[in-house]
Amino acid sequence: MKIANLRGPRDLVIEDLTLDTQNLGPDDVWGETEITGFKIGTDRGNYEGAENVPGAPDYPRWVGDSNLAAIKAVGSNVTKFKPGDRVISRAPHTSDWIQNQNGPLVKVPDGVDSEDAVWAHLYTLSGLCYRKANFVPGEYVAVVGLGVLGLGAIGLGPAMGARTIGIGNSPIRNDMAMRMGAHATFLYNDRDLTSKLHEYTNGSGVDLVILTANPWPAYRTSVEIVRDNGRVSIVSLLGRGEDDLDFNPLAMQYFYHKSLSLIAVNGTSGYLYPSSDSDRFEWNKQCEFVLQLMADGNLNPSQLITHRLHYTQMIEAYEMAYEREKTMLGVVFTWKD
Ligand SMILES: NC(=O)c1ccc[n+]([C@@H]2O[C@H](COP(=O)([O-])OP(=O)(O)OC[C@H]3O[C@@H](n4cnc5c(N)ncnc54)[C@H](OP(=O)(O)O)[C@@H]3O)[C@@H](O)[C@H]2O)c1
Repeated sequence: MKIANLRGPRDLVIEDLTLDTQNLGPDDVWGETEITGFKIGTDRGNYEGAENVPGAPDYPRWVGDSNLAAIKAVGSNVTKFKPGDRVISRAPHTSDWIQNQNGPLVKVPDGVDSEDAVWAHLYTLSGLCYRKANFVPGEYVAVVGLGVLGLGAIGLGPAMGARTIGIGNSPIRNDMAMRMGAHATFLYNDRDLTSKLHEYTNGSGVDLVILTANPWPAYRTSVEIVRDNGRVSIVSLLGRGEDDLDFNPLAMQYFYHKSLSLIAVNGTSGYLYPSSDSDRFEWNKQCEFVLQLMADGNLNPSQLITHRLHYTQMIEAYEMAYEREKTMLGVVFTWKD
């Protein structure tokens, strides 16, 4: 099997390892990768050598976590999957893998293009930004940062019942947001941003901000534009690999006076009406919802694919991310030799 291994900052290699596919455990599933998607934000930080994310592995480490594969074989206890099924999982950039059937592994419905499905786990995280903030249909949602996760939040907007507003740092990204279904876009450094949002929301203000960018100026934009008593869902790793902050992030004029709720988007969302035996909105179930939207034709992340690269060209993509290339967004790696 081939696997991408990040040995240290800007030291990415493809290694050849042996995977024992002859002795699958009872709950094991063996998959052969078709394509993987580039998780730009976190992986760029890992590639650059930004501080480690708590709980994440140190170097040498795997990279990537959006893997679309076909199942080759299953263990004796496996009932959920059969050979030939296409599945999306959080396996890294690798040609083959073995996982437990009860892990983050979801069958892709027939008719969903692999180039859409490969983004399903990342878009599940975009969806968690709404759920953890107890989003209510009809609210105005501003998405600050228009990378993969931000555009996922925009793409989910119509299905969630949101009026979405993309706030980007490049006109190219704002155009992509409009193509994904944003109702409006603005640049984060627009001097009249607050008044334009006031006008756009008919005076209601932005109810929820989904913050997907690490730099502190993006945080400042978020707490400035959200309405009084509003919420900011923070999925970004604030300040990671960025300049130190030069203001108080909990300054009275933001946090106390506006009575804001700042919400960390990680882990589980919780749900008011849980099932008797499981979490109704555990990760795989949320991922199934995302895949169903794709099956219905209501979510098409493949339209944002800007680069299709063979896995042997992976370093090119990481170097483009390192340079913060604005025209690069959806990058998929193919794994056939
Ligand atoms: N919580 C979790 O479980 C989890 C999981 C995965 C990822 N993440 C984090 O989520 C974040 C988003 O991931 P991603 O893959 O979508 O990253 P990304 O592609 O880097 O997207 C962030 C976007 O925000 C832009 N941006 C930077 N400063 C801005 C500003 N002041 N205003 C508006 N936009 C600004 C960035 O532009 P530039 O390229 O110019 O900087 C980039 O286009 C990352 O921080 C990632 O680490 C969290």
